Amino acid sequence: MNLHTKFEELRQRQARAEEGGGGERRQRQHAQGKLSARERLDLLFDEGTFEELDKLVQHDCYEFGMAQHKIPGDGVVAGYGRVNGRLTYAFAQDFTVFGGSLSRANATKICKIMDLALKVGAPIIGLNDSGGARIQEGVASLAGYADIFLRNTLASGVIPQISAILGPCAGGAVYSPAITDFIIMADRISYMFVTGPEVIKTVMHQDVTKEDLGGPKTHNVVSGVAHFLARDESDALALVRELLSFMPQNNRDDPPRVETNDPVDRRDESLDTLIPIESHKPYDIREVIRRVVDSGYFLEVHEHYAPNLVVGFARLGGQSVGIVANQPAVLAGCLDINASTKGARFVRFCDAFNIPLITFEDVPGFLPGTEQEFGGIIRHGAKLLFAFAEATVPKITVITRKAYGGAYCVMASKHIRTDINYAYPTAEIAVMGPEGAVNIVYRRELQQAGDEEQVRREKVKEFQERFANPYVAAERGYVDDVIRPRDTRPKLIAALRMLENKRDTNPPKKHGNIPL
Ligand code: HXC
Repeated sequence: MNLHTKFEELRQRQARAEEGGGGERRQRQHAQGKLSARERLDLLFDEGTFEELDKLVQHDCYEFGMAQHKIPGDGVVAGYGRVNGRLTYAFAQDFTVFGGSLSRANATKICKIMDLALKVGAPIIGLNDSGGARIQEGVASLAGYADIFLRNTLASGVIPQISAILGPCAGGAVYSPAITDFIIMADRISYMFVTGPEVIKTVMHQDVTKEDLGGPKTHNVVSGVAHFLARDESDALALVRELLSFMPQNNRDDPPRVETNDPVDRRDESLDTLIPIESHKPYDIREVIRRVVDSGYFLEVHEHYAPNLVVGFARLGGQSVGIVANQPAVLAGCLDINASTKGARFVRFCDAFNIPLITFEDVPGFLPGTEQEFGGIIRHGAKLLFAFAEATVPKITVITRKAYGGAYCVMASKHIRTDINYAYPTAEIAVMGPEGAVNIVYRRELQQAGDEEQVRREKVKEFQERFANPYVAAERGYVDDVIRPRDTRPKLIAALRMLENKRDTNPPKKHGNIPL
């Protein structure tokens, strides 16, 4: 044997690994509009930076004739590289090898890079395309899943974890993504379900298509399991890169600052007239956000789920911020169960990763009704309250219009450790709206009045003048300043810079008990 033979053996082994499940299966993957695992990694990482690990790993299963079916790499490509120049770990399941199903061996590969990512303190990205536990391996595969779930859990809040769903994901294949911070689903090719349509038909006698059960629209609009709906795979991978740009490498790091051409002292006159003076008139809070943030760029998270609350990332003066905003254009901006859980999860992500929180508040209260009460709005609403209250990152609130009742307290009020609270002159801060308040407080007078409507109008006007303004709160220091809307951007950036070195802590504890 000479050196050439040694190198040739290596080349052949590597080529065999790169073949995956073979040309025919790869063609089938392409015919379905799906990329291969390696093509996906090429799109994710900066060109030429991906370093693969465990390319030659094989499974050790001998049941069901599996000894004759060994493919180096065993259905997952794992390693590290650079995304926008920053170290990032990733694994991509290869559907051409046993349907991307999880074997003991490929679980160990995934765990290895998860361990590295956690030790080094860098994000980990999972590109998922898997039929779940490898059936031929039985409990060994289940053990592999559990090992991954444990690492997902330990890494939660330490390094960012993002999952892109780029094919069918069944059984155990959905629970690892579910523990990660963000799930992106690509249109037309991705599905997520714990049990598929066949099982549902057998057990529940229900007919449901894959799309309706676990397609991207279902999980983006109905269940809220997914945070982003990407047009296709390359859009999904571009989104991963975009998302990472707002995040620090780990919980001890700060998010990267970027250069911006947008002046920090830019005032936007149009903001002065954007919010209608009539408190029942809707407007799109995203317009306010876009006019305030750097270059009007807002990356909305959970865009299609609970649209009565808007959450997402933007930059102010080059600094990453997480934005939470009531949306008066949907359900008048009420907080309901879905909006509360959506907001709470986003707030906790930002807090875990040192991303300051900016809250825009225009909320008439929690959505009333039996559906909400029976569904546990008390417990779910408490999540948002808990999340805002425990957050120690810089917190700044702008009350644009209504701040009523419990929702006033919840939406990053002064009383739950918000650092700076601003209000517009259009703000109305009260226990409830004037009409509701008058009906309760003056019920007897109204009943006894000769002209009930006339008295009601007078009382409503009186109530509006007394409470439907920001000045009662400002007199008590519950808002730090009443500002012209056009000044929002410079005011927010000044406050953010003032808070740059903020350090706040919670009492020592194992962990809090957020009302799950
Ligand atoms: C081994 C599998 C597999 C699996 C698919 N394959 N799933 N091999 N274990 N779990 C293989 C197929 O045999 C086939 O091999 C190839 O992958 C492609 O699969 P197809 O069925 O031809 O593809 P498609 O029609 O696109 O359907 C994809 C699918 C379907 C929807 C994912 O394969 C499927 O329903 N798979 C089973 C899903 C499932 O129930 N998994 C177990 C979940 S239990 P060939 O050689 O023909 O190419 C679980 C427990 C963990 O995960 C719980 C932890 C909490």
